Amino acid sequence: MATTLSNEEVRQEVAHCAQAATSAQDLMARIVRVLHERMLKYNWVGFYMIEKKSDQAPVLVLGEFEGAMTPHTRIPLNVGICGAAASSGKTVVVDDVTQDSRYLACSLETKSEIVVPVFVHGQVVGELDIDSHFPAAFKTEDRTLVEFCANLVGQYLEKSKA
Ligand code: SME
Repeated sequence: MATTLSNEEVRQEVAHCAQAATSAQDLMARIVRVLHERMLKYNWVGFYMIEKKSDQAPVLVLGEFEGAMTPHTRIPLNVGICGAAASSGKTVVVDDVTQDSRYLACSLETKSEIVVPVFVHGQVVGELDIDSHFPAAFKTEDRTLVEFCANLVGQYLEKSKA
């Protein structure tokens, strides 16, 4: 049965993941699992990572996720709320996705969304995207938690590439 935990308890659980993880991919898989299981309004949780190839524009590619499969597995940086967060390097919170013309629909049930960039040495390398079936689900404390998770991945990648 789902258990309600405080944001602080979830933060501690996620911090523990960073110690137990065997790779950045494993860390991302653990984070999406914890957030999806513990945060009852986080109905879709996933990472997109930027793929850069010399013969194409950079694109966000779907990585580890929990929730229903999305049709958006590759998103250009100038498209969607995901593209806006990656290209600006800023967290984007949308309280009502029907009012945001950038929104790319993933599920008809989605009402609100948060996207937080992941940085490595100051450069955006990907992002953590969360959808909720509830309007305005992402409050200040959620933003803090999701930014903590995205930073953990950035720090892990920095260490593993050092
Ligand atoms: N809604 C996102 C697309 C990704 S899905 O939500 C998983 C967007 O507008 O970029």
